[in-house]
Amino acid sequence: MTTQLARTAEELHALPREGRRAVVMTMGALHEGHATLVREARRLAGPDGQVVVTVFVNPLQFGPNEDLDRYPRTLDADVLLADQAGADVVFAPAADEVYPGGEPQVRITAGPMGERLEGASRPGHFDGVLTVVAKLLHLTAPDLALFGQKDAQQLALIRRMARDLNFPVEIVGVPTVREGDNLALSSRNRYLSDADRASALELSRALLTGAAALEAGPAAVRRSARAILDAAAAMEPPVVLDYLALVDPADFTEVADDHSGEAVLAVAARVGTTRLIDNVHLTFGERR
Ligand code: PAF
Repeated sequence: MTTQLARTAEELHALPREGRRAVVMTMGALHEGHATLVREARRLAGPDGQVVVTVFVNPLQFGPNEDLDRYPRTLDADVLLADQAGADVVFAPAADEVYPGGEPQVRITAGPMGERLEGASRPGHFDGVLTVVAKLLHLTAPDLALFGQKDAQQLALIRRMARDLNFPVEIVGVPTVREGDNLALSSRNRYLSDADRASALELSRALLTGAAALEAGPAAVRRSARAILDAAAAMEPPVVLDYLALVDPADFTEVADDHSGEAVLAVAARVGTTRLIDNVHLTFGERR
C-alpha cells in the first residue's frame, strides 16, 4: 500500500507536495461511488499530481435527531479503498483537530439556496457542510475538489460558495454511480433490509419515469414521477416522500412549466429508518 495516512494538519503539511493537488472530501464508509471520485481525481491530477482523500464525519452537518452516532466509521477499509483507487494521501483528522475550540462560532451561511429542499428538511445542514468544506479547502489547499452529483444541492452550494467567497479552487462534479438495479450508491444503503431495498428502488424508478417524459415538458415530468411515488407510498415498507422537485440547478428553485434548458429532478424519501436522496439531470428543449 502506498497511500499515506495523515491524522493532523501538521502531518498533512509535512508531506511532500508535487504537481496539481486534487481533493475528494468524504465522511468515510467509502464505497464504489467514492472510488469513482478518487479515480477521476487521479486522472485529473495526472501521474505527477497528488490525490488527497479526506475522511471526517462532520458533527456540524447532523441535526439533533439524525444519524451521527450510528454513521459508519471504517477507517482501515477506507484507506485500503482509497489506495486501490489511486489516492496518495488519506487525511483523517479527529474532531478536535478540525474544531480545536469546540463548535465554531464563526460559520459559513448557505443563504436562500441552503434553505430549500434538503435545507428545508434539515435546517442548518448546509451551513454545517459549507463550514467544513471551507475548512478542509483551507487545510488541504487543492487545485481541484471533486464532489458527487448525487448530492446535487450540496454541489451547487459548494460551487456558489467558491464563487461568492473567491476560493482559488476548481469544483468538479462527478456523475452518480448506480448499482445494477439503479439504486444510487450511498453509505446509508447498508442500513436497508431486502424489503427496504425493494421499496427504495422506486426512487430511481420515479426519476427515470419522469425523465422519459422529457419531451412532453416539466409538468409531464413531475406528473409521471409523482405517480410512481404515490404508488410506492402503499408498499411495505412504504416510501415516505419528503419532496419531489424539478428545479433549476443554479439556485434550486422550481422551474416553470415552460422552462427550457437545464433542470434537476430531485427526490428525498424515508424507507424504514433510512432517509435516501437521488436526482437526475435533464435538459428541456425550447417549448412552443
Ligand atoms: O458529501 C459528503 O460526504 C459531506 O457532506 C462532505 C462534503 C464530505 C462534507 O462533510
